[in-house]
Amino acid sequence: IQEDSKKASLFVANEIAGLIQEKQKEGKKAVLGLATGSTPTKVYDYLVQFHKEGRLSFKNVITFNLDEYYPMQPNSLHSYVRFMNEHLFNHVDIGAENVHIPDGSLSPEEIRDYCLDYEKKIENVGGIDIQILGIGRTGHIGFNEPGSSLNSKTRLIRLDRVTRLDAASDFFGQENVPMRAITMGVGTILSAKKIILMAWGEGKADVIQQSVEGQIKESIPATFLQHHNNCDFVLDDASSSKLS
Ligand code: F6R
Repeated sequence: IQEDSKKASLFVANEIAGLIQEKQKEGKKAVLGLATGSTPTKVYDYLVQFHKEGRLSFKNVITFNLDEYYPMQPNSLHSYVRFMNEHLFNHVDIGAENVHIPDGSLSPEEIRDYCLDYEKKIENVGGIDIQILGIGRTGHIGFNEPGSSLNSKTRLIRLDRVTRLDAASDFFGQENVPMRAITMGVGTILSAKKIILMAWGEGKADVIQQSVEGQIKESIPATFLQHHNNCDFVLDDASSSKLS
């Protein structure tokens, strides 16, 4: 628990940078699982800053994003492709071939094979070293909404009403928020070697309390993280305020 999201984000950025540098020394690639939304933006700001200061290269980094709305064109204002380019990828020296974001522009018939292939790609690079997560008010991680099972893998899901409501302002109205998304599964997330979930602000305090101290259940998918043996919740004072 840190005083504010800025300090907490620096803590997380340092951890990611440390992994990248360590892997570089070993001549290996660092595999990052990345999230979008408002929560990780300061972490990306710090990573960009480290890169601009000449302290951090992304040449040996491979990334897999958690999710993308469906349907969604990559060049759309609302796409997570655009989000990641704007917040991170356009500002660092990562190879385009090393960036993976679920493709929201596929036809429905293509999705199944695409999702299986996404899982394969993660496996083929040796799995995710650090998975970054935010958390939704529904308790979702990635877009694994209530009802997602422990072993779920990358797939097309239907977004919860609360999630669509929370996204409404970004889309200039709830009716414009896509009904569905492609997301890594809970099982995909849990197979990461290390998981860091971040949450800021009072609005997340209830779901954080339930996720950390509550019973493990499908209705709050973030509770499944209690099964992981190397998972940190990095919180600010406000989001941790309801923990006992
Ligand atoms: C985004 C994602 C979501 C968000 C969550 C919190 O890639 O997977 O689980 O992390 O909805 O969103 P913010 O950070 O906007 O509160």
